[in-house]
Amino acid sequence: MRESFSHKNRVFLMPWTTRYRERDTPWDVGGPHPELAWRIGAGLIPAQGRALVPGCGFGHDALALARHGLEVVALDMVEALREEVGPALAELGGRFVCGDALAFDENGFDLVFDHTFFCAIEPELRPAYGAMVRRALRHGGQVQSLVFPADKPADQGGPPFRMSAQDLGDVLGPDFRMLSEGLAEHRVERRDWQERWAIWVRKERSGGDSPRKGVAASG
Ligand SMILES: C[S@@+](CC[C@H](N)C(=O)[O-])C[C@H]1O[C@@H](n2cnc3c(N)ncnc32)[C@H](O)[C@@H]1O
Repeated sequence: MRESFSHKNRVFLMPWTTRYRERDTPWDVGGPHPELAWRIGAGLIPAQGRALVPGCGFGHDALALARHGLEVVALDMVEALREEVGPALAELGGRFVCGDALAFDENGFDLVFDHTFFCAIEPELRPAYGAMVRRALRHGGQVQSLVFPADKPADQGGPPFRMSAQDLGDVLGPDFRMLSEGLAEHRVERRDWQERWAIWVRKERSGGDSPRKGVAASG
């Protein structure tokens, strides 16, 4: 992982940093997303292996996944989040990395979890998001994503920029198969736009796509 920022993302560094410094973070749920918490409790989230959480913010989801048993790498470009997230995650065997998530180049992850990171980046950067996931995720691994704001008209801009499960699928590419997609039953009430949940699996090299031991293929 290069702990530096691409030219394009540098444009966004100051606003994100300022937003956290001023505690102007309306996207923050104050805990793990309720749908994620419910899915963890219901056994629908892998409990073993390595998870990547790009654009982790205050790290609530990353910490929930780490408590669930996953070895978590949480990424964010805001340096101040290192203190907020790093020590707690390290106690659970995880790691906070500060830098451009789109340039992340570690591999061997079993799960990539996205909660309002995909919708936070400029749509023109989405192909780089897909490339990052293809570098990071092993074959047979899953992308689980809170899909938001699913019904926001695209011409309203962002962030958050309109996102559909298919938008994510388009940049993941043909190597991925959608396992499930539907409304999030446990939503964040104050959010104006629809929240959905999508699960994609990276096909096995052999052509199959059965998940590895300990990795639930449910949604
Ligand atoms: C809308 S917030 C979501 C934070 C967190 N996932 C949550 O749901 O509370 C988007 C996050 O992505 C981070 N971010 C934006 N662009 C980034 C990039 N290129 N690399 C790493 N982090 C980035 C921001 O700093 C911010 O924490």
